[in-house]
Amino acid sequence: MYLALKHTHITFAVLSILLFSLRGFWMLTTPEKLQRRWVKIVPHIIDTLLLLSAIALTVSINQYPFTHDWLTAKLLGLIAYIVLGTIALKRGKTRNIRLLALLMALTCVAYIVWVAFKHSALPWL
Ligand code: HEM
Repeated sequence: MYLALKHTHITFAVLSILLFSLRGFWMLTTPEKLQRRWVKIVPHIIDTLLLLSAIALTVSINQYPFTHDWLTAKLLGLIAYIVLGTIALKRGKTRNIRLLALLMALTCVAYIVWVAFKHSALPWL
């Protein structure tokens, strides 16, 4: 069960990052593609499933945000990734702001993956 959950979580994480990167690329090159119906719906479904699989995993290994630092870091990183992502794809007023938010969101998600593998909020130590 644990392994199936972990593979599910990793699959949704990869899909989330790929779809976000694709939308970031479209934001810079052909923003009208962001208005397609599936582009507005599918990423939200994937991100919801990513979060649900994360919650199921925390229960299955009995470690939780705000009791285990690396999971607190992942949760805060996820919130920052979502906020920066909406600025990058929607709310950013200028192209420069959206580009900066895109790069920061990608940095956040790289940090989250690093934290996931190291089980540490300071994975470079
Ligand atoms: C963009 C968001 C996220 C990404 C990209 C991501 C990525 C990953 C990856 C790659 C792994 C596998 C690590 C390994 O094989 O050792 C993993 C495991 C895990 N993640 Fe996430 N994750 C995200 C969000 C979250 C959140 C928000 C939580 C909960 C607060 C969470 C909880 C877990 C847990 C409990 C594991 C299992 C760790 C283990 O048993 O070794 N993840 N995550």
